[in-house]
Amino acid sequence: MTILAVETSCDETAIAILRDGELLASEVASQIALHAATGGVVPEVAARDHLRTLRPTLNAALEKAGVALGEVDAFAATHGPGLATSLMIGLSVAKGLAVGFGKPFLGVNHMEGHLLSPFFKRGGVRPAVGLIVSGGHTMLVDIESVGSYRLLGQTQDDAAGEAFDKVGKLLGLPYPGGPNVNRIARDGNTTAFDFPRSMIHSDDFAFSFSGLKTSVRYLLPKLAEVPLADVCASFQEAIVDVLVTKTLRAAQKTVRRVVAVSGGVSCNTRLREKLTAACAQRGLELFLAEPSLCTDNAAMIGYVASLRLALGDTSPLTVEIDPNLRLVA
Ligand code: KG4
Ligand code: ZN
Repeated sequence: MTILAVETSCDETAIAILRDGELLASEVASQIALHAATGGVVPEVAARDHLRTLRPTLNAALEKAGVALGEVDAFAATHGPGLATSLMIGLSVAKGLAVGFGKPFLGVNHMEGHLLSPFFKRGGVRPAVGLIVSGGHTMLVDIESVGSYRLLGQTQDDAAGEAFDKVGKLLGLPYPGGPNVNRIARDGNTTAFDFPRSMIHSDDFAFSFSGLKTSVRYLLPKLAEVPLADVCASFQEAIVDVLVTKTLRAAQKTVRRVVAVSGGVSCNTRLREKLTAACAQRGLELFLAEPSLCTDNAAMIGYVASLRLALGDTSPLTVEIDPNLRLVA
């Protein structure tokens, strides 16, 4: 079974080709350089770039995989959540290919792609507590099996990645802030500033990161006098502490023995380090998505498509984009 997956929900144009659980190609054309000038994604600019890069990215994936379009058994694409004009391009291309080659089509939820990405090449999906930490979302999900999810809690304001990006911008770092804050924090003191850990003790699985960003803003007048690495390390530690504490509590409450962590922020080295130590201490199995599967990619979309096809599931061609598509109804 050969699956071709397309992901264009935000600012990466991505194509992946999977065959029987093997990843033959995963091409990602990043728009980071394009959006650096504006310090964030301008939807119109992102959509135009998807149009420009989709075809070369598709050709590169086919060439790398050594697969011809006629050999593909099913086409899949992200249909939400994301930017409407970006989603439309990938979805239209995948549907067009499915119609043209007379093959099944699957619309995939981007969040399900992230959620299940830690299980790729690890023997399949297992009951687990899933933490998704990306630029647009921060959520804890109880995973029973493929397609059976319960939302435990999510952020009430900024997503973790959004907090990293906004603080990076406040500190004058290049876009996107997350990887740059992470890099600079390596030489910093994590206890130099006692930033708030909002909702860390609340008896639920909700998150709030906007107060933390405001605390960093209060420091700005003094920025020239304090080491930037200390600000980055202390800020990062506050986010990581909240994420780790709440994830472990979710595992305890749901009595799951596996913790599955995904999304762009799960590339963060401090988060990986602290989760690894905390899970080892509690005897929990930790599944971290491979770094190449953490940030947006089409391999995770193809993986979900393969799991759903195995369950006999396909989507009608009437499936539309849904910028607000939810993971759990
Ligand atoms: O999953 P993703 O590629 O896109 C969304 O679906 O949102 O996540 C992108 C986010 C950005 O906010 C980026 O700053 C953050 O992931 N990110 C990081 C790191 N690498 C990427 N945040 C913290 N530390 C990192 N190393
Ligand atoms: Zn994403």
